[in-house]
Amino acid sequence: MLVLIAFLIILGAAAYLYTQPHHHSTTTRHIVAPDQCRLLIAGKLQWQGHPNVLNPHQSRALPNQHFNIAFGIENAFTSSNPVYVKKFVGKVKNMINLSPQKWVDMAQFTRDTARTWIEPGLNVDGIFNVEIDDVGSEATLAHGEGPPEEIRVHLTSLVQALSLRVVLWAIFNWKMGEDDIKNWNLLELANSINRVWIASKKQQPVPRFEDDVLLRNALCEFEPRERGKENPLNWILPSFETVWRVVLCAFLELRFTTGLCHREWRAALVNFARVPTQDQFTRFPPFPPAPTASTGGLAGRERQTGSNMPQPIKSGTHLCTSASVQNIVSELLRLYAPTRRIKRAYRMSESHPNIFGVAAQQQDYILAADIESCHLSPLIWGADGKTFNPDRWTHLTPAQRQAFMPFGVTPFECPAKPVFAPRLIALLLGALFDGLGARTGRQRQWRLDCKDKEILKELVPGMRLDVDRDSTYDTLELVGTWE
Ligand code: HEM
Repeated sequence: MLVLIAFLIILGAAAYLYTQPHHHSTTTRHIVAPDQCRLLIAGKLQWQGHPNVLNPHQSRALPNQHFNIAFGIENAFTSSNPVYVKKFVGKVKNMINLSPQKWVDMAQFTRDTARTWIEPGLNVDGIFNVEIDDVGSEATLAHGEGPPEEIRVHLTSLVQALSLRVVLWAIFNWKMGEDDIKNWNLLELANSINRVWIASKKQQPVPRFEDDVLLRNALCEFEPRERGKENPLNWILPSFETVWRVVLCAFLELRFTTGLCHREWRAALVNFARVPTQDQFTRFPPFPPAPTASTGGLAGRERQTGSNMPQPIKSGTHLCTSASVQNIVSELLRLYAPTRRIKRAYRMSESHPNIFGVAAQQQDYILAADIESCHLSPLIWGADGKTFNPDRWTHLTPAQRQAFMPFGVTPFECPAKPVFAPRLIALLLGALFDGLGARTGRQRQWRLDCKDKEILKELVPGMRLDVDRDSTYDTLELVGTWE
């Protein structure tokens, strides 16, 4: 009797659930096989033997609706209208199609900005002080007062503000100087975007853009005058949110962990930030890199400080050569893909029967192509799959090529994949490394500090950084002292 009652309760509950329109399955199913991931992203995967009744655009737009609610955006990620999406992507392609001269100008702008923010003795508006109370205060150290013995730079703020400023410059042509937009505005916008980004993924109900005074105020400074009422976050989000994350991890990997004994990697990036050409991006510099006395190239400078020059090392059976910037960036995107999962909604047809043989109502599943798993799988990348090694890009296997998809796949492949995004990442990194080595007479030594010393212990050469926790590296400070 009890069994019968229990069965009837379960049957009733199941019938209720299946009759709810478009019931969203609460758990996200992760797909880890690269071929399946590609099918899923394109909307062609058969789930449990059934095709998706949503078209590929609907399938992408549904799991991204929280961005629409939290940021008030309407873009390629949130719209299910193929005509609108095509137009939007076309606009983006135009925005990011920069002439060689514009790359040169952008590189100059990025290096100048990085240097001004890092250079010893000049503390711009105090915004990069670690003390959050200082945000927005007047400059704490005027030029000419003499450099302090120790300077501290809040690393995440530096990376976010620089990425945002350069993205705005590049895609909106906004050449704002200090007077136009104060750095704290920039940082406030970056902070608000990140706060809302995290909240929109975690909180239910999703916080609404209309109610977020902080984000809306920060955005006011950036309201595009000539673009009517279009929300600039439509463009800022896909570019800024991806770029700063990979740059932060890359900075730590190249400057403070695996890159510690590979100065040639940083030298290649610095050289690209100085000469941002296709040739400089793809060429394999001689090993060890030649110092350039005239330009004060990184390799030359570090040699002068008496540090050991890097020597060719053996990795597995391969003799490491000097890596190209392109290979360094590819390896960074493999290890630290900013879009870790690409989600799609799947809806079974109405005639799909449930476990009791009763015709089920439509049900949405959220399936996620696990890009991070594809990029790290030891079966595909070998035992050193979690180690940064740009040399692997000189001998990729077909399986590795298939598994690498930081920019998604057709028909939704990122328009910034071929040129803009990889070079922007290289430029930002090169400018940061250049800025750290800026000559001001004496040399600075840079180290990392953090209130939570356990985080510092986790930064070990050869070990992948922990990107699982949202704000792991938020408290890191760059500390510069005189040699
Ligand atoms: C590190 C940098 C970047 C990464 C890793 C990245 C990643 C991605 C990924 C994974 C997708 C596919 C999303 C999906 O299928 O649901 C995508 C699409 C897209 N990305 Fe990027 N992206 C980057 C930079 C940028 C930049 C700088 C822009 C330009 C402003 C941009 C604009 C777009 C647009 C418009 C789409 C939609 C394409 C379509 O619907 O056909 N991305 N990106």
